[in-house]
Amino acid sequence: MKKQQLAVPPVALRHEKAVREMYNILSSVLKECGINELTEGRYQGNPARSYAVAQELQQEYLLRLARLKTGDEMLDIGCGHGLLLQEAKRQGISGKGITLSQKQLEDHQDLDTCLLNWRKIPEKMPGWKNQFDGVCAIGSLEHFVSPQEAAGGIKNDVYLAFFEVCRWLLKPGGRLVVTAIHYLPNMILRPKMARNQFFEPWRWCTPDFHLGSVAWLGGAYYPTVGELVSIAKRCGFLLNREEDGTKDYYLTSEVWIKKIRSALLRLKFSKEIFSGFKSYPLHTIYGFLCIVLFQSWNWQFRDQKGQGPPTQLMRYVWERK
Ligand SMILES: C[S@@+](CC[C@H](N)C(=O)[O-])C[C@H]1O[C@@H](n2cnc3c(N)ncnc32)[C@H](O)[C@@H]1O
Repeated sequence: MKKQQLAVPPVALRHEKAVREMYNILSSVLKECGINELTEGRYQGNPARSYAVAQELQQEYLLRLARLKTGDEMLDIGCGHGLLLQEAKRQGISGKGITLSQKQLEDHQDLDTCLLNWRKIPEKMPGWKNQFDGVCAIGSLEHFVSPQEAAGGIKNDVYLAFFEVCRWLLKPGGRLVVTAIHYLPNMILRPKMARNQFFEPWRWCTPDFHLGSVAWLGGAYYPTVGELVSIAKRCGFLLNREEDGTKDYYLTSEVWIKKIRSALLRLKFSKEIFSGFKSYPLHTIYGFLCIVLFQSWNWQFRDQKGQGPPTQLMRYVWERK
C-alpha cells in the first residue's frame, strides 16, 4: 500500500538546514539573554503587564483557541522550546511536538517531541492520520516557504500542502491554530531581496533592507495578509476566528531587545555565538548588527510615521469540516 497519498512539495534541503542552524545558534544565544520564548506574549493592550505573565497567558489562550481539554491530543508544529506543550501537559492534554532544531529538542526531553519537517509527516508518521483534536503552528509558518520557492512561484502550493497535511492530521471538527507574521499587500518583499545587503549601504534602513535581512538571516518568507484564508477555505477549513496580534508582537520584541542589550552590557555571550561565528561568520556578524544596531526585527512592528507597522501578526483559528 502507498504510504503517502498527499502531494507535498519535497523538503527544500538547503532551506531546512538554514532554519535549523539559525535556531541552533539563536536559541542558545537568546537563552543567555534570558529569553526562552520565540513568539509574542498576550498583553491585551496593557504594556504594563510583565513579560513572564504575558507569555504564560498566551500559552493558555492558544490552547483555549484550539478548544482543547483534558484527555485531548494535540500536535505543535514548530514547538520551539516546548512552552505550549508544557502548558498542555499541565492541563492534562496529550501533546506531541516537532521542530527542526536539535538544540530545542534537548530542552524538552520530558516531552513527546522529535526532529521532523511537517512536509515529511504523512510519510514518516502514517499513524498520525486523523489522530489530533487540535494542531497548532505558532510562529513557524513564516519558515515554511523559502525565498527561493517564493521566487519560483510555488508559495501557494506549499501553503496548500500545509493545510492538506493539517486536514489529514485532524479529527473531523478538530481545530487548527496558526499565528504568523504577514507582509502587507503594499509591502511584500521581493524574494530576490532576501539577501545580505550589508555591502549595499545605500539600502541600509530601507524597508527592503529590514525585511530582506530578516528573511535572509531567518530563512523566512511571510505570507501576505488574506492569502492563507482563501487557501484554507479551498482545503475545507471553516474560519472560526481571525485576530491582529501585531501590538502583542511589538511589546514582546521591545522586551527582547532590552534583554539582549542588557546581556551584551554584562558581556554575557554564549559559546554558541563563537561557534556560530566560526561556521557562519557573515551571518553571525550581520545578524548581530541587524538585531542590535539596525533593529530590523523590531522595525517590523514599530509604527512608521503614523502609517502603522509595516507587517502584521495574524492569529487564525480554523475548524476542520
Ligand atoms: C519562531 S519559532 C516558534 C517556536 C514556538 N512555537 C514558540 O512559540 O516559541 C519557529 C519554530 O518552527 C520550527 N520550524 C520551522 N520550520 C519548520 C518545519 N518545516 N517543520 C517543523 N518545524 C519547523 C523551528 O524549528 C522552530 O521550532
